[in-house]
Amino acid sequence: MLIPVTIFICGLISPSQSLDNGLALTPPMGWLSWLRFGCTIDCEKQPTECISENLIKRTADVMASEGYLEAGYQYVTIDDCWPEKKRGPDGRLVPDNKRFPSGIKALSRYVQSKGLKFGIYEDYGNYTCAGYPGVLGHEAIDVATFAEWEVDYVKLDGCGAPDPDEGYPMFGKHLNETGRPMLYSCSWPAYQKHPHYLAIAESCNIWRNYADIANSWHSVVGIMKWFGDHQDEFAKFAGPGHFNDPDMLVIGNSGLTVDQARVQMAVWSILAAPLIMSADLSTMKPEFKEILLNRDVIAVNQDVLGKQGLRVWTSDDKKQVIWHRELEGDARALAFVNLGDKAIDNSYSHEQMLLPIQDFFVKDLYKEEQDQILSRNDDFHVRINATGVKFYKFIPKECESDDVSENEIKEISTR
Ligand SMILES: *[C@@H]1O[C@H](CO)[C@@H](O)[C@H](O)[C@H]1NC(C)=O
Ligand SMILES: *[C@@H]1O[C@H](CO)[C@@H](O)[C@H](O)[C@H]1NC(C)=O
Ligand SMILES: *[C@@H]1O[C@H](CO)[C@@H](O)[C@H](O)[C@H]1NC(C)=O
Repeated sequence: MLIPVTIFICGLISPSQSLDNGLALTPPMGWLSWLRFGCTIDCEKQPTECISENLIKRTADVMASEGYLEAGYQYVTIDDCWPEKKRGPDGRLVPDNKRFPSGIKALSRYVQSKGLKFGIYEDYGNYTCAGYPGVLGHEAIDVATFAEWEVDYVKLDGCGAPDPDEGYPMFGKHLNETGRPMLYSCSWPAYQKHPHYLAIAESCNIWRNYADIANSWHSVVGIMKWFGDHQDEFAKFAGPGHFNDPDMLVIGNSGLTVDQARVQMAVWSILAAPLIMSADLSTMKPEFKEILLNRDVIAVNQDVLGKQGLRVWTSDDKKQVIWHRELEGDARALAFVNLGDKAIDNSYSHEQMLLPIQDFFVKDLYKEEQDQILSRNDDFHVRINATGVKFYKFIPKECESDDVSENEIKEISTR
């Protein structure tokens, strides 16, 4: 009898309606070439940097062998600049024959042979953002080509798109009609002033809301601010199968310190954001790899409720920000972000943290502090590095003790 009671008090699964291709039930995790490798195409001058089958294979090898796949990073996606500038005589897209000599199908097979999934980029315009052939007027044949190449993920950009409200659902319909489940990443709202998020969530698995991320703390801060300022417009559309996308993880590149990298990982997890790395995994420094592979943080991102967290409190000087996400079992993840350049020592009330007045068991997800108990009567004390974060999971004490009794019951019944 205790078990259903526990579920009733501590868990509340909300149903959702949206695109139903069985994909992205939790935010997708993977790698995308753009932020780190952009449109580097001269493989003679930059053999390890150019967009090529070698880069994709090298990345897939590291993802499979160094723990990324095991941690959940699954998709390896080529961004812009993979095709020839001209379509083939049959109207089909052709991969650049110097950089992808084995063809895309062989490449997707290679990636899949490692247990990973393969993604590709296109654009709903006459040209991609970097000037390669876009899908406009070729939607059906391009989708058929992707299915033939056994693609698992399609990112559709919006440079030069005539009417996103028409084009994105139409392209999604083509994807569906192939019968091959392909995760559909749309750049649709990023190209609009007043996006119709309901329509977007009905067509796309993930969608880019805002400007491209860059390799800098300034860029990460700008995106966090925008997501906080506009959260009421779109947070509610996130859920299993459909998520807002604040763009790639900068972590592992030159632009972020370790503390700043922890901030991005924490806030992206609160936002139920896709965790799409874009760094050279073969030269990743261990301190960044540790952040990317942090199981407790990833568990917050992948929480089954799929509920997007919110910015719940900002200090008057705008330097301290609290982000809060509801998790399965009435638990919560809270990220205390310090945007300033001096360390902060502060205490926060339940009200500021938007926590119900009750006792919590508190775990530091970056494991610098011992587990602690926050009593319903106390404020919560936090010390945060300059441009850094403290990231905790708050578990209601009642639920924690219920879990214990549930285990005890199981033990007794199996004896
Ligand atoms: C795409 O190209 C066609 C053919 O050149 C042209 O008629 C059309 O206006 C272009 N559309 C956009 C949105 O640029
Ligand atoms: C196509 O859409 C239908 C209806 O939503 C869905 O049941 C099916 O799984 C989709 N198939 C693919 C391959 O996306
Ligand atoms: C803060 O800075 C110290 C010293 O640079 C470092 O050891 C620590 O990991 C940083 N992070 C946090 C969250 O304290």
